[in-house]
Amino acid sequence: MKVMFIGDIVGNVGRLALRKALPALRGKYNPDVIIVNGENAAAGRGITAAIAKEFFDWGVNGITMGNHTWDNKDIFEWIDDEPRLVRPANFSSEAPGIGSSVIKVGSKKLGILNLQGRTFLPPNDCPFRTADAHLERLNKETNCVLVDFHAEATSEKIAMGWYLDGRASIVVGTHTHVQTNDDRILPEGTAFLTDVGMTGPMNGILGMEQDAVLHKFLTGLPARFVVAEGDWHLHGVMATLDEASGRSLRLEKIRLTETSLAMF
Ligand SMILES: [Fe+2]
Ligand SMILES: [Fe+2]
Repeated sequence: MKVMFIGDIVGNVGRLALRKALPALRGKYNPDVIIVNGENAAAGRGITAAIAKEFFDWGVNGITMGNHTWDNKDIFEWIDDEPRLVRPANFSSEAPGIGSSVIKVGSKKLGILNLQGRTFLPPNDCPFRTADAHLERLNKETNCVLVDFHAEATSEKIAMGWYLDGRASIVVGTHTHVQTNDDRILPEGTAFLTDVGMTGPMNGILGMEQDAVLHKFLTGLPARFVVAEGDWHLHGVMATLDEASGRSLRLEKIRLTETSLAMF
């Protein structure tokens, strides 16, 4: 099974990047399943039903989220009716939505699990123990599972990679919006990358306009961040899984810019 995962889609520029790049990515990698992180899809803050529908119409099969899950109140209207979208599983048990799901595409079944880190992020339940419980349930349906660990600290993400080695097919990080260069297959067959990176404006600061972010750093005063404009870049990974065992055979990073798409 070939699984493509694309990192945090930021605002209208990120959505444009996804729409423009998907045909070329499909042509080159021929993925069976495409999962994207959508926590910043609506102007950098959360996601709406209209945006999720657009993603599914473009061929996305599943959406993961993160700390911005609840930023756009539109989500409360539909999250409980959309099993293709998962939010961090270690949120409060009172929170709407689900933390894991099995995505079915033809005869392929991919479990997706979203978790959020606790280092430099609001307190949540233990992501490690939460992973144990969800994997046990997902593994009753499929050996192939992708984990999106939405976390700030590289140490926490690498720890999760080792913790789940041999139990999840793919463990990738999101949230920092910067792709790391440590892609590898761990000894027991888990494809791992500390952070996938983001999809959106390449000349902003993590996708936001430079001016407001710089103002905040220089003055310490609050500032309203808006999604930057201009050229985009897209970051993701492509993993090839052995379906019977759930082990990853291959992991490749994807980094695409508006300019490189033309030469793709
Ligand atoms: Fe993000
Ligand atoms: Fe985030």
